[in-house]
Amino acid sequence: MVGYHETRARVQRGVAGELFAKFIQGLAAKMLVHITKDFEELSREAARVTANAIRTKKDLRLGLATGSTPLGLYRELIRMHREDGLDFSRVATFNLDEYIGLPAGHPQSFRSVMFRELFDHINIPVANIHIPDGKPRENYEKYCEEYEEEIRRAGGIDLQVLGLGMEGHIGFNEPTSSLASRTRPKTLTRQTVEDNRKFFGAKEEPPHAAITMGIGTILEARRVLLLASGTAKARAVALAVEGPVTASVSASALQMHRNATALVDREAAANLAHREYYERALEMTRKLTPGRLW
Ligand code: F6R
Repeated sequence: MVGYHETRARVQRGVAGELFAKFIQGLAAKMLVHITKDFEELSREAARVTANAIRTKKDLRLGLATGSTPLGLYRELIRMHREDGLDFSRVATFNLDEYIGLPAGHPQSFRSVMFRELFDHINIPVANIHIPDGKPRENYEKYCEEYEEEIRRAGGIDLQVLGLGMEGHIGFNEPTSSLASRTRPKTLTRQTVEDNRKFFGAKEEPPHAAITMGIGTILEARRVLLLASGTAKARAVALAVEGPVTASVSASALQMHRNATALVDREAAANLAHREYYERALEMTRKLTPGRLW
């Protein structure tokens, strides 16, 4: 028989437990900021997180980005596949975006880049790979809704990897994109077109439009890993992490995500005002809620 005092103690423990859980949830609701020494350490940490997620859930739904920043992550995942047997056979991937209008097989289409930099070197079945198709079409609305439906049918994205544009875009959600936006065609800003010029030949004009998952789509991913490296990204990182939540900086929407981590190297973190706090918060998270760090 449980007596009055024992019952009361249990209730109190229960209430305290509940409060503690709320406190922990509160901690988890913040965007974690993890500052690494350099790009190599950032890439290894991103790969550790992704590999842990795959080992925990073999049929992980993994959202991927292109651009320069995730290349180190992809190299490391390939190494883990070769040396440690990291298994992608049940993983399904969903890429954020694709240029509109590049000829099929163009070496700079995101499809070509993803196969060259990752998919050709791991054991993921081609049927599990999803990348928006950037061929010009009459009905984008229908096509984009189908892409969203594919994500939904797969059960949603478990872990979304993101890069960060110079003006704070994620995917190709350029400044002023609605924070509730879904997959759709998007005109690229001049800044983005210029940033992408390095990937194209001197005589070739980079594309001016793309299909991209929306910010609303990205926010539905269960976990988000935002990667940024180098001094050129310092301004965008500070705006995304510490600035107001605004459509002018798409990545700032991640401040409202339940489980987002900004994984940035020291150069990219240079303009953050609360670096010391982030380091302490990361330490505390390691002690209290290590699961949050994957
Ligand atoms: C690419 C993408 C973009 C890039 C961003 C940063 O799929 O969605 O948001 O992540 O433009 O590009 P890099 O990494 O080249 O600086």
